[in-house]
Amino acid sequence: MDQKLDVVRGRRVLKISGREFRQAALAASRVVIDMGTGDGRWIYRLARAYPDWCCIGIDASAEAMRESSWRAARKPARGGASNAWFVRTAVEAPPSALCGLADAIHVQFPWGSLRRVLLQPDPGGLSHLACIGKPGAAFYFTMNVLPEDQEAPGRDRRLVAAYARAGLIVERSNLRRASPQTSWGKRLGSGRAAPVLVIEGRIADRHEIRAGAQWTVGESSV
Ligand SMILES: C[S@@+](CC[C@H](N)C(=O)[O-])C[C@H]1O[C@@H](n2cnc3c(N)ncnc32)[C@H](O)[C@@H]1O
Repeated sequence: MDQKLDVVRGRRVLKISGREFRQAALAASRVVIDMGTGDGRWIYRLARAYPDWCCIGIDASAEAMRESSWRAARKPARGGASNAWFVRTAVEAPPSALCGLADAIHVQFPWGSLRRVLLQPDPGGLSHLACIGKPGAAFYFTMNVLPEDQEAPGRDRRLVAAYARAGLIVERSNLRRASPQTSWGKRLGSGRAAPVLVIEGRIADRHEIRAGAQWTVGESSV
């Protein structure tokens, strides 16, 4: 069955054929997904910078994506980017057309249930995130640091194990000073290089999932 996608274009939310969306995405040289994209400015800028990539911003709320999706729909000379897509869906229920699509998955400064998926962590939500990546795809999850994030005992070990079970191999998890590039990152850090928690790695391939390999994680540092 051809499941439809809710694609945001300005004030409208269009029902687009999942099959056609997938074909367009897979024709690109690289597919980048920004889950919880918010106002979508970061993914829109990426699409403008790399016209041969397919850049997909996803958020549970269509509202915040309106302006960037409207900008992307204009003619290229006026700031348009036909390679930028904005999809309304929650991480808990991504449409099947998104499965195995991404070469890179980003989640940046999540809140609410998206943050809980990454930090509690929630096995179902993590599996859905893993599912939207190609085997071997890179993932980068960047979060602002709350006091409990620094103090949680054994957090890294627990996260790495839960991520691995969901098919996400953590290669590094640490606190870093970074200059955030997204709207919320800038807002939270007031434009300064503030400490952020970064969890990064790659999507397991079938062989790794079967082997149930052990993975290690880097030391925390600021
Ligand atoms: C603080 S904003 C960050 C937006 C953007 N990544 C940035 O850094 O500017 C968090 C975003 O996560 C989205 N979000 C929260 N829970 C979600 C979920 N379960 N699935 C998808 N998006 C979610 C919210 O709608 C919101 O736009």
